[in-house]
Amino acid sequence: MSFKGKDVISIRDFSKEEIEKILEEAEKMETSLAKNIELNYLKGKILANLFFEPSTRTRLSFASAMQKLGGSVIGFEDITSTSVAKGESLIDTIKTVEKYCDVIVIRHPREGSARLAAEISEKPVINAGDGANQHPTQTILDLYTIKKLKGRIKGLNVALVGDLKYGRVMKSLAYGLAMFEANLTLVSPVGLELPEQTIKEIVEKFDTEIIQTDNILSGLKNADVIYVCRIQKERFEDVYEAEKVQKSFRITSQMLEKTKEEAIILHALPKTVEIEPSIDKTKKAKYFDQVYYGIPVRMAIINLVRP
Ligand code: NCD
Repeated sequence: MSFKGKDVISIRDFSKEEIEKILEEAEKMETSLAKNIELNYLKGKILANLFFEPSTRTRLSFASAMQKLGGSVIGFEDITSTSVAKGESLIDTIKTVEKYCDVIVIRHPREGSARLAAEISEKPVINAGDGANQHPTQTILDLYTIKKLKGRIKGLNVALVGDLKYGRVMKSLAYGLAMFEANLTLVSPVGLELPEQTIKEIVEKFDTEIIQTDNILSGLKNADVIYVCRIQKERFEDVYEAEKVQKSFRITSQMLEKTKEEAIILHALPKTVEIEPSIDKTKKAKYFDQVYYGIPVRMAIINLVRP
């Protein structure tokens, strides 16, 4: 199994064995971090962080992961300071940046942009989110988190709650969870369901049983893991429509009390109004633990794909 030079574009590009290998490597990275062992696997190498869309966790955790591996980071977080603002094409930007670095991480509003970048670049490209399509490294870190916190993935009841239509995190994750034999309950407002095509693909490929509902309470009842995402307001044509849904689709502490004692609640973040703030203090809220696992997992991914 060789990862050298491999692009990370969609969770579909990986077999279960390959994901298990990444999880194993992440475990090793986490141990080194805990022991404060200085690593230099990426010494002299450069990662380029190209963010055409806002990001806090993904961008900073890739930068932190690269630096913890002994490498360095270049890139931009504000396209107004780059030649993109002068009208440069994505193709030309990638042809340029690949000359400056060893690995490219890209986030872009257009679906398929990361795949395009990978076709152009000779250096490995990691998709950090392409429009409403895919966010594979988030899924791998989510699988790692669930394994860490629940001891397994197989057989767990996982509720995916929120905007499943535009949430790229959810599209990648539904596939990853099905691959690892979790049971899925999809909880979304009417009109924001996981696309039919994604459901069909998962059911046919993994024989997963999927329950769908727009009722939060009934969707959460049997969940071992409750995974929430915000309404992806920036992808709506009508912002007013997004705000209306936002107000009506919210997990409250009262609802959480009716869930399983051992249930955990995860969120890729940023969260806005979909989780009542008092929930942060409950023992079920694990999203800031989840944030931490982004480091060992991204260290493992960078170290595996580097040329
Ligand atoms: C998500 C994203 O950008 O898709 N955040 C992340 O990467 N952690 C989720 C979101 O924006 O809702």
